[in-house]
Amino acid sequence: MNRIIPNPITIISGNGYCSFDRFILEFDDEFEKYHKPFNDLLEKIIENQTQPSKSVKVKCIYEPTLATEEYILTVEKHLISVQCFDGAGFFYAIQTLRQCISKNAEGLLTFPIMVVKDKPRFKWRGLHLDVCRHFFRIDEIKRVLDLMGMYKLNRFHWHLTEDQGWRIEIKKYPLLTEKSAWRTEKDGSRYGGFYTQDEIKEVVAYAAERFISVVPEIELPGHAQAALSAYPQYSCTGGPFEVWNDWGVSDEVYCAGKDSTFEFLNDIINEVCTLFPSEYFHIGGDECPKTRWHECPDCRKRMKQEGLSNEEELQSWFIRRIEKTLLQQGKILIGWDEILEGGLAESAVVMSWRGTEGGIKAVKRGNKAIMTPWASMYFDKRPYEEDKKVNLPILTWEDVYNYDPLPQELNEAEQKLIIGAQANVWTEHIHTEEELEYMLIPRLFPLSEILWASPERKDIESFRWLLKRHMEFLIQKGYNFAKYREEILNK
Ligand code: ACM
Ligand code: ZN
Repeated sequence: MNRIIPNPITIISGNGYCSFDRFILEFDDEFEKYHKPFNDLLEKIIENQTQPSKSVKVKCIYEPTLATEEYILTVEKHLISVQCFDGAGFFYAIQTLRQCISKNAEGLLTFPIMVVKDKPRFKWRGLHLDVCRHFFRIDEIKRVLDLMGMYKLNRFHWHLTEDQGWRIEIKKYPLLTEKSAWRTEKDGSRYGGFYTQDEIKEVVAYAAERFISVVPEIELPGHAQAALSAYPQYSCTGGPFEVWNDWGVSDEVYCAGKDSTFEFLNDIINEVCTLFPSEYFHIGGDECPKTRWHECPDCRKRMKQEGLSNEEELQSWFIRRIEKTLLQQGKILIGWDEILEGGLAESAVVMSWRGTEGGIKAVKRGNKAIMTPWASMYFDKRPYEEDKKVNLPILTWEDVYNYDPLPQELNEAEQKLIIGAQANVWTEHIHTEEELEYMLIPRLFPLSEILWASPERKDIESFRWLLKRHMEFLIQKGYNFAKYREEILNK
């Protein structure tokens, strides 16, 4: 029975096994630069024996007719070969192999003889994490990236700024981390944290080794109260504000009327761009209350000058101005689906979260979209019916499995503009690393399945069996989700 998540496109099984306790890696010239990282990765996976007795050759072969991320993995009795177009293809072949390892009676590692041909269904296979409502150290971020790599996800959407905290060091504006990264909770305690630029670079490099692109999100024009608590001059009213210590959506947003707001935001964006090689940049754009803009003389003047008839158009004008900065940096703007309101920026990619309508509307206009609908892709919901933890709606792994990111009403050309989907992990009610892992496992498995595998071959009963095996594997690897589940069930 196939044990691989996500399910490869084709597996042709042979008879017998390839058994070994040592490997010799051999690369085509095109892949020589990967020699050391892949050697280290394989060694870690097979946990090299101390007295090796039988070696196997692992060959990585450049195959220009394959696509990016695609691979053909051939396991023979004395040879493992991977044909691929790029390093990502080889990396994914290794992830497939790792899920097929067993140990035989002589203590040798074995892989079944087989040929696997495989490539992903979607280009964007994402996971989002809010580190603002609650903060997660880079060690935990790396554990999440490990999981993503194992299950062939390739975009880490890092939600770095919020009303409740600013989490990324900006050298030009030091108060963003001195002040905006810390809030006073209702009980008087202080809560917060941030990543230095060196830590950000470390995470980006760690992700790149797993062929994951890290996409930063700097929220604007709303969700800005933490930033405005340190720099109130870029608000409509001038403040003063505190970093927010409540959940919800704050009315304090960046002023669209003052040119200095855009200098501030451009400086930040330009600095953030130097840290993230990603071709995409997320600017938020969701849930921006218009109360302050409505009353602000600067904003009203701007609307008059620019011929904008309402605040929605002012929001659209705001996003277009930021889009220019990003285009100068060679970046593609992504925003939540509210950026459709008042007119969509030409090059923007829409992240459809309130439903799938935003994504459908975007691709019908010729823009690209990523599906993250609240109903199916919000991992801040409770994963099990029997959990009585906070009063949140339920999203089971079956719900995730049953979601198809491609809306049936789209034609083929429109479907091509849906570049993928993503699960979002908002952390208002996720306080610890254990809890975060509990929210990810096992729902990350069906996420991986719907993003990579072919939908025609879905079979929920065999997936149920598979999911249990993978949970056991991750418990062995030290993930804490099961312990956490016992604790909350016994509460
Ligand atoms: C969102 O959940 N506010 C994008
Ligand atoms: Zn204003």
